[in-house]
Amino acid sequence: MIGGTGDEGYGLALRWAKQGYEVVIGSRDAEKARSAANKIRDAAGRNSRVTGLVNPEAASKADVVVITVPFAALIDTIKSIRGSLRPGQIVVNVTVPLETAVGGSATRTVEVWDGSAGGLASRLLPKEVRLVSAFNNVSAEMLNDLSREVDCDVLVCGGDAEAKKTVIDLARAIPGVRALDAGPLENSRIVEQLTALLVSLNIRYGVKTAGLRITGVQSKN
Ligand SMILES: NC(=O)c1ccc[n+]([C@@H]2O[C@H](COP(=O)([O-])OP(=O)(O)OC[C@H]3O[C@@H](n4cnc5c(N)ncnc54)[C@H](OP(=O)(O)O)[C@@H]3O)[C@@H](O)[C@H]2O)c1
Repeated sequence: MIGGTGDEGYGLALRWAKQGYEVVIGSRDAEKARSAANKIRDAAGRNSRVTGLVNPEAASKADVVVITVPFAALIDTIKSIRGSLRPGQIVVNVTVPLETAVGGSATRTVEVWDGSAGGLASRLLPKEVRLVSAFNNVSAEMLNDLSREVDCDVLVCGGDAEAKKTVIDLARAIPGVRALDAGPLENSRIVEQLTALLVSLNIRYGVKTAGLRITGVQSKN
């Protein structure tokens, strides 16, 4: 989890640790990473397998590298880990280009030359890694509340079918989540924009848990 000390990465890490996955929390600061990992172990159970490392080390250890940093930090973060990635590794972009990146509102996005944060990540990452965009619409508030199921569909976009299948399985491991193959990475621009709308709904209805459900599509969960 690159940026796994933050709300979204921490929440995903917590859910996967709880389901028995081995998780590495990444941070720019080793001590901060270790402290978040300890907190997750306490919450997910002492037998859960969670460690904390600086981002490049975390990236080199993982089969699936999940990037959960603010958009303003995406380019620097990718530059910091790209030398540590291996050919074939799966990288998941969770980042959304909210206007907060330039001091604006989380109910708006900024235009990205590549169409989306996923598109930007794809341009900056080594061509040999397999990039998928996913979890962009899942509320950290929901992920962090282990007493509740996560009431949200996860839309998974990417060009590599096998990588998407792996990420869909990871999403489905989170209780309550239904994961759908949402097509190529270029569709991430639509998925990411929906997050700004969800933030706007959160504000209007005084909650932090707005999510997304697609109806009329049969899928495993
Ligand atoms: N929060 C949600 O409900 C939610 C839902 C869907 C999607 N997302 C997306 O997921 C991403 C992460 O969201 P978040 O709420 O977890 O963000 P966050 O808590 O503000 O930040 C996540 C982590 O990013 C790292 N980071 C690296 N460079 C940074 C910089 N320049 N400024 C601030 N932090 C930096 C920090 O880790 P270290 O200091 O340890 O390096 C921080 O803990 C965002 O792109 C967001 O749009 C969030």
